[in-house]
Amino acid sequence: MSIRGVEINIQGLGYRYSSRGNPTFSNLKLQARRGEALAIIGRSGCGKSTLLHIVAGLNRPTEGTIEFDGKKVDGPSSRWVMMFQAPHLYPWMKVSQNVGVGLKFAGWPEKEKSERVDEALRLVELQDYADVSVQDLSGGQQQRVALARSLVMEPELLLLDEPFSALDAFTRASLQRDVRSIAKKLGFNLIIVTHDIDEAVLMADRAVIMAGAPGKIMDEIEVGLPDPRQRQDPAVQAMRSRLMEAFHTAAQVAGGAKGGTEAEVDTETESVTQHA
Ligand SMILES: Nc1ncnc2c1ncn2[C@@H]1O[C@H](COP(=O)(O)OP(=O)(O)OP(=O)(O)O)[C@@H](O)[C@H]1O
Ligand SMILES: [Mg+2]
Repeated sequence: MSIRGVEINIQGLGYRYSSRGNPTFSNLKLQARRGEALAIIGRSGCGKSTLLHIVAGLNRPTEGTIEFDGKKVDGPSSRWVMMFQAPHLYPWMKVSQNVGVGLKFAGWPEKEKSERVDEALRLVELQDYADVSVQDLSGGQQQRVALARSLVMEPELLLLDEPFSALDAFTRASLQRDVRSIAKKLGFNLIIVTHDIDEAVLMADRAVIMAGAPGKIMDEIEVGLPDPRQRQDPAVQAMRSRLMEAFHTAAQVAGGAKGGTEAEVDTETESVTQHA
């Protein structure tokens, strides 16, 4: 499997859930390089998931444009795939059937489909579980099946909305490391929405900090750390502090006008609550 990423160009993006209500965000500008891993962090309700759905073509923007390699995004496509917090697998199917479901719908011949599924299962280290029922897997293994199901489509962009937040710290860490290393090996772009500052530091090339209502991009920080990234590495810890500070500053600046609300940030072992 070899996958090309995309150059992403988002200009003047705005979204309103209702024509009379306030915009969720407006005039948002964001660009990403081919193969870049972006993390979007920000307090609850600032519009991260809304933004991700629009980038995935699942919702249409009310203003502005999104271009992948210079072409406007105007709907969903198998070239960009979204992974959610819950893996949403078919419980009556085996692992390999779940992974191959997209190829089956696309009418792939059995042999090619099974080769591609095997390759995706090897990438997520589930090659020994192909014939197991997904109901017999742990939460982390199920999320790996969902990852393989995304990879099998050879996406140019993988969008992740807090994909590991329901997992224990150990399983989460191994998936964070593996998703980044698979993305880098195959060359596709990542956009990860997360509350977890560690996740941003461990997985992203660049972190984008959103805050406010309507949501704005308040800051962008190049993470630029060598791989593999170890949580206890001083450079990783220094970047984590830098992002944490930028997160709190953004929450304070954006929250100041409203008199302050809660900002929640998950860290490796604790949940820090900051009053702006
Ligand atoms: N289907 C919807 N209809 C109307 N308003 C919505 C809908 N979904 C989200 N919103 C509102 O849009 C805003 C942004 O929501 P969104 O889910 O994008 O935030 P988020 O940053 O992903 O939050 P969280 O970190 O809690 O997941 C919120 O004020 C939310 O109430
Ligand atoms: Mg969300």
